[in-house]
Amino acid sequence: MSIPSSTSPLVDRFGRRVNYLRISITDRCDFRCIYCMNEDMSFLPRAQILTLEEIETIARAFVELGVEKIRITGGEPLVRKGVLDLLSHLGPLQGLRELVMTTNGSQLEAMAEDLKAAGVQRLNISLDTLDPERFRQMTRVGNLHQVLRGIDAAVRVGFKRIKLNAVIMKNRNHREVGELAAFAVDRGIDISFIEEMPLGVVDSHDRAEEYYSSDEIRQELERRFTLLPSPENTGGPSRYFRLVGTHSRVGFISPHSHNFCASCNRVRLTVEGKLLLCLGNEHSVDLKRVLRAHPGDTGKLKKAIVDALLIKPERHEFDLKEQPLIFRHMSVTGG
Ligand code: GTP
Ligand code: 5AD
Ligand code: SF4
Repeated sequence: MSIPSSTSPLVDRFGRRVNYLRISITDRCDFRCIYCMNEDMSFLPRAQILTLEEIETIARAFVELGVEKIRITGGEPLVRKGVLDLLSHLGPLQGLRELVMTTNGSQLEAMAEDLKAAGVQRLNISLDTLDPERFRQMTRVGNLHQVLRGIDAAVRVGFKRIKLNAVIMKNRNHREVGELAAFAVDRGIDISFIEEMPLGVVDSHDRAEEYYSSDEIRQELERRFTLLPSPENTGGPSRYFRLVGTHSRVGFISPHSHNFCASCNRVRLTVEGKLLLCLGNEHSVDLKRVLRAHPGDTGKLKKAIVDALLIKPERHEFDLKEQPLIFRHMSVTGG
């Protein structure tokens, strides 16, 4: 049975109600984006990661506690075997209003239709550049054309909404923001521009040197488009604007220049079964341990989840000039 919002037990010490769970279903990825991973990464052994059944059990407990939106992330979620099965079990959970996914797009050409059929309503697809050579540099191994075919397939299938995610880095892709926005406009889809976050140590560049602020991006876009502030809000970090005369919205995710923690409505489940209470802090609770110590006892699991909210931090602790305080890479956290 789903719990009405007024009585949801998922409220933290600062009065923020958590109704959104992000689940990373794998730390593996077929790309090696420079802001997310190092070239040489080691991935978790199978015994350490949640099975798909365990993920489903935890997701079900969250929905019964009042979570209404689940986003499946990774690594790259579409490289995990059995993902479609998992999705088709999650979609019908009573009380869940939205099942959505963030993907790098590499598998979408073949999978877009199945994803829709399995119950995914909206997709966020990473796309940082439209230049094949730069795409190869930023992802280290990715093929732009494969991703563009994937985006086209997703547009054809007709998801409720599609949003592109572009991490903008100075002197790499910052001159492309207008082109990227135009690409989204041509397809009637949305785009978010993201400031790089210091998650995990990366060896390819100095994050502070390549920082490019959302305000600079916005100024650049205003030369080409009229931006109208939009009240739409997912309770998340994006501030949205309508691009006047188009069907597209542009979002800015600015952890450095604009803080959005006061309205935070989300927690994250890593593929290791850790419940992370904040993207920018280490506070976590080991739900895999609870689950494996008390098989079949969802009461224990739910209690652990409700108690975990008491340690949700007030705000993130990002600082580009310091060595990262957060040693997890984004691929482990699921963004
Ligand atoms: P919605 O949550 O549905 O609004 O989508 P989203 O745009 O937040 O999700 P997506 O998975 O596309 O992530 C886009 C970027 O936002 C990624 O870089 C995420 O790491 C970042 N992000 C998502 N949630 C948070 C958060 O709570 N804090 C911070 N700092 N960044 C976040
Ligand atoms: N900073 C900001 N965004 C990041 N992403 C991955 N690593 C980082 C980082 N260090 C983005 C990806 C994807 C989303 C889930 O997170 O580009 O769109
Ligand atoms: Fe919430 Fe932490 Fe994200 Fe801030 S950084 S919005 S507190 S999860």
